[in-house]
Amino acid sequence: MVLDTGNNIWVRQLRKDEKIPYDLLLLADETIEAIDKYIKDSEIYIFEQENRIIAIYVLLKISKDIIEIKNIAVDDKHQGQGIGEYLLKDAANKAKEKGFKKIIIGTGDASTRQLYLYQKEGFEIFDTKKRFFIDNYPEPIYENGIQLEHMIMLKKELK
Ligand code: ACO
Repeated sequence: MVLDTGNNIWVRQLRKDEKIPYDLLLLADETIEAIDKYIKDSEIYIFEQENRIIAIYVLLKISKDIIEIKNIAVDDKHQGQGIGEYLLKDAANKAKEKGFKKIIIGTGDASTRQLYLYQKEGFEIFDTKKRFFIDNYPEPIYENGIQLEHMIMLKKELK
């Protein structure tokens, strides 16, 4: 779907004095504890519509050349309208502007919609973090009726 980017929607970085929108971040991650492991060292980008935050993504520098999208989420009411796709493009553009060579993202092995979306946006699978969702979360996580086990890592070269 192609997003109609009118004048009333844009992406900007969340300022340090603004409240972290955990409600949105929790759509993509299970617990606040898991989010707090990366959020303080990350840059948070928000997508606003009429002064309301409706989507978010979080970038964490991994190395001189690599940056990771640690969290990406669109509020329930606005999913399926092309915003996720728009944010993935925006994240890759920002990473490239900052001089990174590669952008990476991880998702669950049963997260079929996310795997589809990321590959459609030019990411390719390069690694699997075995047992990630078993070893790092207190409760089993289910998606599409399947328990998440491994994290699938995808990368996109920024040319
Ligand atoms: N089921 C299957 N596919 C769907 C659905 C759906 N319900 N809705 C949209 N899609 C497809 C679309 O068809 C579209 O592809 P197409 O244009 O070829 O048809 C593609 O997914 C992209 O759709 P968008 O509208 O751009 O995606 P959206 O704005 O909904 O954002 C996102 C995707 C971020 C995954 C959103 O759904 C979301 O916030 N989900 C909950 C949180 C989440 O899972 N985040 C990712 C976790 S991994 C991480 O954060 C690193």
